[in-house]
Amino acid sequence: MTTSPAPAHLLQAAQVREWLAGRTGDYIERLRALVRIPSVSDDPARRASMLEAARLVADELRDAGMSQCDIADTGGHPAVLATMRDAGRDRPTILFYLHYDVQPEGEQAEWTTPPFAAEMRNGRLIGRGSADDKGPILMLCAALRGLAECGGGVPVNLIVLADGEEEIGSPSLPAFLERRGGELAADLVAVSDTSMLGIDRPSLVLGTRGTAGVEVELRTLDHDVHSGKFGGGVANAAIVLAEIIAALHDRDGRVSVPGFYERVRPVDEPTLAALAASDPPEQEWLREVGARSESGERALSLHRRVWTRPSLDVIASWSGYSGPGIKTIIPATATAKISCRLVADQDPAEIATLLAAHLQNLAAGRAEVTVRPSHGSRPVVCEPDSAAAAAAIAAYEWGYGARPALIREGGSIPIAATLAERVGEVLFLGFGLHGQQEHAPDEWLSVRNFELAANAIAMFLLSAADLPRPGPKERA
Ligand code: BES
Ligand code: MN
Ligand code: MN
Repeated sequence: MTTSPAPAHLLQAAQVREWLAGRTGDYIERLRALVRIPSVSDDPARRASMLEAARLVADELRDAGMSQCDIADTGGHPAVLATMRDAGRDRPTILFYLHYDVQPEGEQAEWTTPPFAAEMRNGRLIGRGSADDKGPILMLCAALRGLAECGGGVPVNLIVLADGEEEIGSPSLPAFLERRGGELAADLVAVSDTSMLGIDRPSLVLGTRGTAGVEVELRTLDHDVHSGKFGGGVANAAIVLAEIIAALHDRDGRVSVPGFYERVRPVDEPTLAALAASDPPEQEWLREVGARSESGERALSLHRRVWTRPSLDVIASWSGYSGPGIKTIIPATATAKISCRLVADQDPAEIATLLAAHLQNLAAGRAEVTVRPSHGSRPVVCEPDSAAAAAAIAAYEWGYGARPALIREGGSIPIAATLAERVGEVLFLGFGLHGQQEHAPDEWLSVRNFELAANAIAMFLLSAADLPRPGPKERA
C-alpha cells in the first residue's frame, strides 16, 4: 500500500527539515546529557541514576511540547508517561514506546572512550545507550519541537511511554498496563527501538522475535573429588553438560528439543518474497563480526534464519576450577544459561517447559538436574498492508530519500506483544543502524542519522493524522 503525503503535510515537513538542519547540534547536546547518566536497569547500585534519567527524559518531553509528563511508579524502575491531546477527538492517538534504561557497560577497558563520557568522534556520539534507546527519545523530541515551531503543530494526539526496564524484560509493565491501561488507550503503537539495514537502506521492521530462557544446573557428585583417585571412574559434570549442550541441535542445525517447532507458523509467500527482496549482504554481516563460521539451518539463507526461524543459544556455561594454575579435580556441578529466540506462534512458557523436559531426559541416569525458567516474551508479527504501515513507509521515504526495505528483526522488545494485544496495532518505527554496537563496547549513534530519523518521525506524525481510527481497544 502506498500513500503520498498531502500537500499541506509536505509543506510543513519541508519547513521542519530546514528547522532540524539548524537544531540537530542542540539535540545531540541534550542527548549527550542523557547518555552521561548511567541508567543501567540491571545494576542495583544505579537506582539513583534511573530516577535521574527518568527526570531528564520527562523534562525533555515537556520541553518538546508534551503537556503532561509523569514519572510513573511501576513497582520497579519508573516509567515516564507523557501525553499531548491538542489534536482533537477526531484525530488518532498514537502511543510511542521507547526505553531510557541501558545495558551494562561491561569491561571499561574494552571501550576506547569511557562508556558514559558521551564523547563525539567523527560524527558519532559514543556511549552506552546512545543508540539503544536514548537516541530515539531525543529524535522524537526534535521532531515534536520542529512540528510545533513550523506551522500546524502536531496533528495527532500522543502518548509517550519511556520504559525503564526494557533491557531486563519489562517485568513491571504488564501490571502497570493493567492498572493504568485507560491512560494508554491509543489507535496505534509506534515502538521506536529497532534497526534498519543502513543509512542508505532505510527499513521497515515487520516483526520481532520473542524469547524463552532457562538456567540449568546439573550435579554428578556430592562434591568435587580428586581426579587421580576417581578420574575415569565417575561422571564429570562439565563433560556431561557439554554433551547435553551438544545434543541440543541436530546435524542439520535444527533445535532438537521435541515439539520446539510445533507451533511455528509458516511465513506466507508475499512476506517471504518481500524479505528475500531486502536481501541483506550476508557475507558482510558475517565479516563485520568476524564470524568464523555459521550456525543454524544451512538450507535457509542467513536472513531467513534470523528473521523467521526460532533459535537456541547458550549464553553462558561454567563449571570446575577456573583459578590460576591447575587443580586436579572432577567438578561436581555445572551450570548453563540457555536462551531461545521465538517466532509466531511459539509460546515462551511452553518452550521453557519443553526445554526443561528435554534437559531432564538428556541427563537421565547421569546427573541430577535443576531447571529454572529465567525469561520469556512473545514474538510480534506486523500487518504489512495496513494504512499505518503505509504511513511509516512514506515517513522513511521522506526522511531517507529511499523506499524502505521490508525486513524483520531477530531481536526482541519484551512488551511489544502485550502492547499489540492490549492497545492496538504495533508498528516498529526504529532507526538503529547495523554495526552501531548496541550492548557492546563503543556503542555509537550517527549524528547524520539522528537528523534523518527526526525528519522521518515528523513525516510519520503528519501522515498519521489522516489514518482511519480503528478506535482504542477499550472502546471496541
Ligand atoms: N533494541 C533492542 C531490540 C533489538 C535487538 C533491536 C536487536 C534491534 C536489533 C532491545 O533493547 C533489546 O536489546 N532487547 C533485548 C530483550 C531482552 C533483554 C529480553 C533482546 O532482544 O535481547
Ligand atoms: Mn532497545
Ligand atoms: Mn537493547
